[in-house]
Amino acid sequence: MNTRRPVEEALQRVHLPIESASGLPNSCYTEHSAFEQDRDTVIAPSWTCIGFGTDVPVNWAVPVDLMGYPLLITRDKAGTVRVFHNVCSHRGMKLVPEAGKLGTGLIRCKYHSWAYDFSGELIGTPSLGGADINEHKDFDPTVNGLKPIRSTVWMDNIFINLSNSGESFDEFLAPLMQHWSKWVTAESLNEFKPAATHGKLELVVKSNWKLAIENFLEAYHLPWVHPGLNSYSPLSQHYDIERGQNFSGQGSSSYTSPAGADGNLSTWPKEQLKYAEYPVLYPNTLLGLQSDHFFTMTILPLSETESLERVQLLFLGDVADADTHESHRQSILEGWREVFSEDIFAVEGMQQGRSSPAYQGGVFSPVMDQHTLHFHQWVANRFANGL
Ligand code: FES
Ligand SMILES: [Fe+2]
Repeated sequence: MNTRRPVEEALQRVHLPIESASGLPNSCYTEHSAFEQDRDTVIAPSWTCIGFGTDVPVNWAVPVDLMGYPLLITRDKAGTVRVFHNVCSHRGMKLVPEAGKLGTGLIRCKYHSWAYDFSGELIGTPSLGGADINEHKDFDPTVNGLKPIRSTVWMDNIFINLSNSGESFDEFLAPLMQHWSKWVTAESLNEFKPAATHGKLELVVKSNWKLAIENFLEAYHLPWVHPGLNSYSPLSQHYDIERGQNFSGQGSSSYTSPAGADGNLSTWPKEQLKYAEYPVLYPNTLLGLQSDHFFTMTILPLSETESLERVQLLFLGDVADADTHESHRQSILEGWREVFSEDIFAVEGMQQGRSSPAYQGGVFSPVMDQHTLHFHQWVANRFANGL
């Protein structure tokens, strides 16, 4: 008996009412062709977080591999962050192999020594026109610079739009900012600063990137996977936030800072300090907004069966960088490390289950899994638009 449904039929079932819908088929999580399809139809046209501003000091160039595409993040001496394809315009050498400071302000290819400045302009082509002749009448350096990628930095997250098309980042973010307008403004969010110490953690999970997203979208698993968290922020006090055009997730109405609150955001209403929200900005940016700190977890797909989770914490005022608050920062970071580590077995277990021919997308709780299905539908729509 053939137990596999054609992918097209499976994708149609994603759009049924939740009571009768099935999720994305196994092949979307297990096959390399699906990984490339994710890259080109889901990730590329979206705003994708590829790292943090703190990864890239002034005058540094930092290579990043995004699902097989070599990219390069630079920060010039004025502090401007840019993202390019990490490939030399000449013979296609990967331009920068490892992160480092470029004291000269030039990005120089190691093959024939062509040099680009930090805005991507080609400004040096030694011996291009013959030995010691650095130009040629038939060669125009102004059209042979690095190929830029639309990028922006928000909450110290570096976002790119790989396809260089579609809505602006501000348009992309607007629905979430509208949703959060009860607590914050664009200006007040700028009060958060990256933690000077104890601000980052990384976890590698043996699962497709989408399963890490799906796990973050629901609070259903709290009592069984996070008994500690559930003791002070129980499932009964979690709620679904709205399912926006490009975000969804859950919130808690019983948030308390594990290390004790030490200052809150200026615009946050005092009677709402127990609220916190955990949306996913589709496709890969997981956010945590609390009155006293903020985090981002970006999910970087490494292969169809492996992903890198990178977390950065932001705090307010002295809490972000004063030595006297080091233990507070450490306490918050270790609290989140515990929670995120607890999720790994579940995410990896779902990946293993997707090798089973008996599983064909599963079923959804009509109440608890609405966001998971919303994400599946969003992904399926991207497939449909990109095919
Ligand atoms: S490939 Fe880079 S200078 Fe030739
Ligand atoms: Fe979890």
